[in-house]
Amino acid sequence: MCANLGKYIYLTPQKLGGGTHAVDLNGHRTLAWIAYWNYGDTCPISHHLAAFPADSGDPYKGFEFVNSTQGGDNILMYGIPTKIKERGLLDKYGQGNHIYRVGYSGETGQMELLEDIAETTGIGLGVHTTIFPDGEGFACADGQKDIAAFFSRARGHEKTKALMAFRADWIANSQWLGETWTKGGTIRLTRLSPSLELGKYDYEGTKGNKLNYEMAPMAELLVERGQIPGDSPRTLTGLDNVTHDPRGPWSAMCLRMCGGVIILDRSNWQPVCFLNATDRGEDNIPVKKVSSMPDTWEVKLPAVKNPVHEAGFNPSGRDFVICNNLRDNSVAHFDVANADPRQWKRRGFIRSADWKGEFPAPFHLCFSVDGSKLFLSVLRPKPAMSDVAVIDTRTWKIIKTFRNVGPDCETAHVTYDGKYVLQIFSGFQRLPAGVFVFTQDTLEPVGYAPNFGGHHDCVVVPSKVEELKYSRCCTV
Ligand code: CU
Ligand code: CU
Repeated sequence: MCANLGKYIYLTPQKLGGGTHAVDLNGHRTLAWIAYWNYGDTCPISHHLAAFPADSGDPYKGFEFVNSTQGGDNILMYGIPTKIKERGLLDKYGQGNHIYRVGYSGETGQMELLEDIAETTGIGLGVHTTIFPDGEGFACADGQKDIAAFFSRARGHEKTKALMAFRADWIANSQWLGETWTKGGTIRLTRLSPSLELGKYDYEGTKGNKLNYEMAPMAELLVERGQIPGDSPRTLTGLDNVTHDPRGPWSAMCLRMCGGVIILDRSNWQPVCFLNATDRGEDNIPVKKVSSMPDTWEVKLPAVKNPVHEAGFNPSGRDFVICNNLRDNSVAHFDVANADPRQWKRRGFIRSADWKGEFPAPFHLCFSVDGSKLFLSVLRPKPAMSDVAVIDTRTWKIIKTFRNVGPDCETAHVTYDGKYVLQIFSGFQRLPAGVFVFTQDTLEPVGYAPNFGGHHDCVVVPSKVEELKYSRCCTV
């Protein structure tokens, strides 16, 4: 397929490929690429990314993006008979958790590594990155460390600042590992401070990891079974991603192990409430401040029925959705029209007769530009091909499913003119990879385009701030 999909630049990380490339959708030519090992990173798993709106209004003239990387033992998860660890490549320069800021220049036609934000701020995180709705900063999180941090936007050779960082810990009611989350407990959210001695935070590389490996998609229950070792699995909340409400200061910090999200007010950095996505217990739970030395808040959960993962806000401002995994296999949708998040209510669940047991499982998501449809990647274990389900956001019913799209379908993205949906696939492995394209409104398949790498994410580079609400800002 070489149809012209419009004048858009499509940016995709290559995960185990160790870099990121930009494809011009106007003809499917690779525009530019970067490989992080070229800069001395000995294990750059190019994981998640998000792009800032182009300052000139034209991404072809230049743009910047942030790209998180994993490293360390995460490379050992995929059954590759590699000598990377015994050769010392996972030591100092292969620990990952870099947050690279990269610039593309239309003048030179090249990408340039501008900054490692982990080095600048001392906060090393390796998972989801999401730009603020005003384009003037971004959030990054990491479910191995349970840290979410919020950063300013630097341009060119300026340096990024850490605006705020939190860690979420779990204090279980039960003393048994197998009951750590199901029998309930307390989420403790703590504001982190920079180290006085270093003048920056002290969370680079693997420092602060509670687990030695990230929880792969749908791997949350392996933690309670003792199958993901590490320094502190019992305190895990799985703070993996932050999504932003396009309308205002609210961000949702997703706690995979705790079945919901903490809503944060970015205008004063205070947590507001906890949204429970599972079908057991209250839907909106208070957050209580318990200390100011340092600032600490708690949320009490009587039980956690199931883990959650990907989430996001509808650009229309009506809905917030979260995927329920494993013990439940559904997507919770909340009514978030009220200006006060403490009034947000869980309205119901998207379920499918097809989603039985643990798989196939709703995974990543995005919305149509008009907000009338939700696009869900639905994961089947490799080498099976995953699906894309389309949901009507008025009835919350599945109106179409594309079967056998490709292995490991990850995030989807719309072109900002609302014409096409781009579904990237081949998440982590050495499997067929590419992008599946269909029309946003009429849901007709357009075809496939090659796209090299074991993608875990994708973004269409925005040309203006207003486009962020359809971008890697509100959904993951
Ligand atoms: Cu991931
Ligand atoms: Cu995730």
